[in-house]
Amino acid sequence: MKAIILCAGKGTRLRPLTYTTAKHLIPVANKPVILYTIEKIKSAGITNIGIIVSPENREDFISALGDGSQHGVKLTYILQEEPKGLAHAVLMAKDFLGDEDFMMYLGDNLIMDDIRPFVKEFEEKKDLSALIMLSPVQDPSRFGIAVMEGNRIVKTIEKPKEPPSNLAIIGLYLFRKDIFEGIANIKPSWRGELEITDAIDWLIQNKGTVEGHIIYGWWKDTGKPEDLIEANHKILDDIIEEFKIEGTVEASSVIQGRVSIGKNSEVVNSVIRGPVIIGDNCTISNAYIGPYTSIGNGVMIENCEIENSIVMDEVKISNLSFRIDSSLIGKKVEIVENDGKPKGVQIIVGDLSKVVVSR
Ligand code: DAU
Repeated sequence: MKAIILCAGKGTRLRPLTYTTAKHLIPVANKPVILYTIEKIKSAGITNIGIIVSPENREDFISALGDGSQHGVKLTYILQEEPKGLAHAVLMAKDFLGDEDFMMYLGDNLIMDDIRPFVKEFEEKKDLSALIMLSPVQDPSRFGIAVMEGNRIVKTIEKPKEPPSNLAIIGLYLFRKDIFEGIANIKPSWRGELEITDAIDWLIQNKGTVEGHIIYGWWKDTGKPEDLIEANHKILDDIIEEFKIEGTVEASSVIQGRVSIGKNSEVVNSVIRGPVIIGDNCTISNAYIGPYTSIGNGVMIENCEIENSIVMDEVKISNLSFRIDSSLIGKKVEIVENDGKPKGVQIIVGDLSKVVVSR
C-alpha cells in the first residue's frame, strides 16, 4: 500500500506564518507537523509516500524532508498547480498510485491513535471500496460529516449547515482504485472544488461498501494558531522518554519537571518549568520559561517571562515587563522593551500579523 499526504492549499488561517513556511512545516514540540504524520504512516508499514505540494511550498518541503531517507521512508513530491479540492489532489497522484490501494492523509491533521488497526481492517475487508476514519465532534458544521447505518457510511456531506450527525471525517482515508472512477464522475462544488466527499458518495451509490472507523482519542486539525498551541501542549504532555539536557545550566538556575535543552544552549539565572523543549544554540538568561513552551534553535530570551507558546528559530525576546502567553512567534521575530522616549509601542509587523496587548 502507498500513501499520499495532502499539503497543497493556501494556509490562509495561519498567515502571516504561512507566507514563509508551509503550515505543515510549522514546528510543534520542535518537530514539523508533517513529521508526526510521516511517522504515523510508517508505523502502519507504509514507506512509499507521495506528498502533494503547491508551486509556492514545493521547495520548502524538498529542503526540509529531501527524499525521506533520513526518516526511513521514500518521498515523491507531486505538484498540484492550484488547490482545486481534495479529489483534484488525488487525481494529481494517479500516476504515482497506479492501481494500488492507498492511504490519503490530510497533512495538517494530527492523529494520536494507533492507525494500524484501521489499516488491518481495510486489508481484511476486501469488499470495501473505502474505509474512513471518523470521530465524534461538538461542532460538526466545521467538518465533512458521515451518516452511518451500523458500520456503513450511507452519506457524506462537506461542512453542512444543519449536520445530520456529529461524526466528523478527520482527514484519514483508505481507498481502492475505484475512487478514481468516483472522481471522474463528479463536478466541482459550489465553492469550485472537486470534493472527496462527493467522490465517496459516488462510491456509496455505485460501487461496493464504504465503512467508517470511529476513534475517540485526541486529534486536531492544526489550521489555526490556537490549534497549534493546543497540539504543542498535547505533544509535550505525551512525550515521556525524549527529554534530555545537552546544553549547560548555570548553578543559579532552577529546572523543574521535564525539560529538554539542546546542544550549545545556555541557561543562566533562569527558572524553567517543564514540560519545555529548548533547541540548540539558545541563550536563556534572567528569564522564566513556563510549562508547555517549545523554543526552536538559535533563540535568545533575556529578562522576560513566557509560557504555553511556540517560539521558532532565531527569535530574540528581551526586557519585557509583561509575560508572553499562548503565543505563536515566527522565525527571526524580535520583541524588545526599552527605556527609550517617547514612551510608546513601536510595531513593525508583516501583513495579517496579530498583536494583542492587555492592559
Ligand atoms: O480536518 C478535517 C477536514 O479536512 C474534513 O472534515 C473535511 O471533510 C475535509 O474537506 C478537510 O476540510 P478542511 O477545510 O480542513 O480542508 P483544507 O482546505 O484545510 O485542506 C486539508 C489539507 O489538504 C491541507 O493540508 C491542504 C490540503 N489540500 C487542500 C486542498 C483544497 C490540498 O493538498 N489540495 C487542495 O486542493
